[in-house]
Amino acid sequence: MGLRSSRWYAGDDRNSYIHRAWMRRGLPADAFDGERPHIAIANTASDLTPCNSHFGEIAESVKHGVWAAGGVPLNLPVVSLGETNVRPTAMLWRNLAAMATEEMLRANPIDGVVLLGGCDKTIPSLLMAAASVDLPAVVVPGGPMLTGTFRGVPLGCGTDVWRLSEEVRAGTLSREAFLESESSMIRSRGHCNTMGTASTMACMAEALGMTLPGTAGTPAADSRLLERSHETGRLAVDLVRRGLRPSQVMTRGSFLNAIVTLAAVGGSTNAVIHLLAIAGRLGVPLDLDDFDRTGAGVPLLADLQPAGRHLMDDLHRAGGLRAVLKEVEDLLDPAALTVTGRPLVEHLAGAAVHDEAVIRRRAEPVLPDAGIAVLRGNLAPDGAVIKPAAASPHLLRHRGRAVVFDSVEDLHARLDAPDLDVDETSVLVLRGCGPKGYPGMPEVGNLPLPAKLLAKGVRDMVRLSDARMSGTAYGTVVLHASPEAAAGGPLARVRTGDPIVLDVAARRLDVDVPDGELAAREPVLDGHARPLRGWERLYVDHVTQAHQGADLDFLLGSSGDTVGRDSH
Ligand code: FES
Ligand code: MG
Repeated sequence: MGLRSSRWYAGDDRNSYIHRAWMRRGLPADAFDGERPHIAIANTASDLTPCNSHFGEIAESVKHGVWAAGGVPLNLPVVSLGETNVRPTAMLWRNLAAMATEEMLRANPIDGVVLLGGCDKTIPSLLMAAASVDLPAVVVPGGPMLTGTFRGVPLGCGTDVWRLSEEVRAGTLSREAFLESESSMIRSRGHCNTMGTASTMACMAEALGMTLPGTAGTPAADSRLLERSHETGRLAVDLVRRGLRPSQVMTRGSFLNAIVTLAAVGGSTNAVIHLLAIAGRLGVPLDLDDFDRTGAGVPLLADLQPAGRHLMDDLHRAGGLRAVLKEVEDLLDPAALTVTGRPLVEHLAGAAVHDEAVIRRRAEPVLPDAGIAVLRGNLAPDGAVIKPAAASPHLLRHRGRAVVFDSVEDLHARLDAPDLDVDETSVLVLRGCGPKGYPGMPEVGNLPLPAKLLAKGVRDMVRLSDARMSGTAYGTVVLHASPEAAAGGPLARVRTGDPIVLDVAARRLDVDVPDGELAAREPVLDGHARPLRGWERLYVDHVTQAHQGADLDFLLGSSGDTVGRDSH
């Protein structure tokens, strides 16, 4: 059938001898007979990516499935990014991980790949890589943690860290109690148990058609995840035999399905950037307006933190992603395929809601309209985003005085100063935190509130930046302002005291300063100096803006799986 790996292994010449001989460490001769697909398991396991540290066990199950279906499984460790550890932000390294994985998939004698991802950037980087190489590929999402409790109350990973730390700053929770909760936060293996970026991207992978349907959201500690992993291994072999490639699965219809899903589950704003980047690798046309248009009117059905109350384990128990999608089936593209070769909607047959408090019925949503809103105006000519589901309704239309911070360091130095001229109607503005500016576009857009306002009981304010925010965060937070300050965006010209006008219903974000006056101001570019070497240098010279997916400009479009030359 002409396997790709046969271009290495077939024949009786010196080079095929070399390729085979070094791989024959227990592999039988018929592993190289040209009939057995070689399946890489691109594994982001790492002890420094604690959310993915259990992937060895998942990989074992995938391997069994690959063998069972007549393939040859091959573990391929790839760049891993631990969201909580990696500085200055894991986002700086997403494209590096995607590029390195892409190249290793292309460079090696493999026919297909199973992608093991979990913690925030790992599924996006793996999908970007798979899209670029376009070898048959399928994702196993590593699954969320089981829910930990503190003093009898369930803890939402991330979300409750933000909440509890604000309580400490407000003086309503002791530091001792706060620290005591630390050991309860992470109850088991797996990624954050809220609908943060990791859970969101697992759901995106499934909505795009890139998982065995029904897998996303299966808790990491649940035996059924290993069963799904085994089945996914078998499926990967079958994918190669059917010749089904990511470009046939991740079509524009699939991306629109992902956008509907994003709204229905109340997913992370980070998904906007990641989906744009994946689409860019495939050459699928997708832009910010697709998110607003397609997400408009999609109800929020999954009542999960940070937009709602429950956690991922509850979602799984209540019927999982398929049950959510079943409720909005009419909004999904009926033709968009999954890796099974059948459309996503066909896999929703039999899905059922088992707990209507966790997965709401269409007629009784958490919110009737949960799509991510795309704002434009003289502060964000190329767009900014806000997640209305995680915002305070009374702030969605707001006019307030800007209090501007030029950098995260400036913010930390001045935020809690008793003489900071700020009240609850102010708009906190943070700049210099976009892709080029930081660099890497960190998750600092949910700026903490000034301590003196917290002490007054204020729990939300309008915040605006060119940064991202953690998918586990909440608040009336305008993010991804594009172009960013460091790329000459208008955010660089805003001054403390300027009136900022936010009108989410009208999709507007403006500073009420005459255009001529704004343009005449000297921009404040307090970003870091241009890096001199290495990845950071490559990154700042080539990263695109948030509304384009913040990928490197030379990685757009698929490059395919062909390698023209041998190594010997
Ligand atoms: Fe890894 Fe949240 S820190 S998923
Ligand atoms: Mg994150």
